Amino acid sequence: MEKRYLGKSGPAVSSLGLGCMGLSFGYGRVTEKAEAVALIRAAYDEGVTFFDTAEVYGPWTNEDVVGAAIAPFRDKAVLATKFGFNIVDGRQEPGLNSRPEHIRIAVEGSLKRLQTDYIDLLYQHRVDPNVPIEDVAGAVKDLIAEGKVKYFGLSEAGAATIRRAHAVQPVAAVQSEYSLWWREPETKIFPVLEELGIGFVPFSPLGKGFLTGAMTAATRLEKNDFRSTVPRFSAENRQANQPLVRRLEALAAAKGATPAQIALSWILAQKPWIVPIPGTSKQSRLRENCGAVKLRLTEQDLAAIAAVLAANPAQGARYAEAQQRLIDG
Ligand SMILES: NC(=O)c1ccc[n+]([C@@H]2O[C@H](COP(=O)([O-])OP(=O)(O)OC[C@H]3O[C@@H](n4cnc5c(N)ncnc54)[C@H](OP(=O)(O)O)[C@@H]3O)[C@@H](O)[C@H]2O)c1
Repeated sequence: MEKRYLGKSGPAVSSLGLGCMGLSFGYGRVTEKAEAVALIRAAYDEGVTFFDTAEVYGPWTNEDVVGAAIAPFRDKAVLATKFGFNIVDGRQEPGLNSRPEHIRIAVEGSLKRLQTDYIDLLYQHRVDPNVPIEDVAGAVKDLIAEGKVKYFGLSEAGAATIRRAHAVQPVAAVQSEYSLWWREPETKIFPVLEELGIGFVPFSPLGKGFLTGAMTAATRLEKNDFRSTVPRFSAENRQANQPLVRRLEALAAAKGATPAQIALSWILAQKPWIVPIPGTSKQSRLRENCGAVKLRLTEQDLAAIAAVLAANPAQGARYAEAQQRLIDG
């Protein structure tokens, strides 16, 4: 698979990464460990070298799975994890915690679970309003000096926070939601990333599964499926958003592709420093998603997609209000 660079200073990674969260957390069913390990290794066989996890996914269990999966090719992988939620003894307590001493505890735990002595890319998962970002960047800078971390990242951070952090410790990548139906980073975040030479890692690039066309109003969401709390995934909004996916399906069919491939290829076409991290628990879908790197969208295709998006604005907020409060402005 072709490589991309995460910004001016960041590592070279496969142009698609693998989001590992859904194997253990967030989407209802938890994939059995051996099956999850096989999925991650299958991604590596497809050319994927960039793997995304976090302390909070489980908590802890997803890092265990990712560590076990990548152990045979650790030196070839670019391993990203995140700190910043309030994890105490393996349980998620309310709120955030990016106090420097807590970052260090989180990183020591991540290193053990990931079976490694360095983390390639360490993100702050959410900006903590109680800890100045300079202190967070300083704590990560110390970990980089000790060789425990190679690169610093931020997730869902606002433009001003990115600048302040970058002044203390250069930021290699920002990870935020971005897809055909969530394009907000384009206005305020992309110009800052371009100016500072920072890479961008879109999470939920398949719209949490919706943009693939695999979900309808009738799809049953388990109670422990995070999407059951998301306004955009209410049955009513899933119904209202069907015309968007039906049109994407038609565009995909005309290209001999699938809607998931269109969604990923569209992201790759936006900037050369963007690396999406789609997640799946199924090897067939993994291969389908990896196929997106070979799909070339022409100017005409991009214009047709833009017209579909303009005519079908997404219905429903992307996060419930309590979750939205954790996002940095
Ligand atoms: N920084 C953050 O705050 C944050 C937040 C959310 C996620 N993330 C990261 O971003 C990664 C990806 O985001 P995400 O998992 O939320 O969303 P996503 O990649 O947009 O979508 C994942 C969903 O799409 C389904 N899917 C994947 N490929 C498919 C295909 N070809 N056809 C049909 N359905 C398909 C998956 O179901 P199956 O498993 O059934 O295939 C899963 O339910 C996560 O794994 C995580 O590492 C980060």
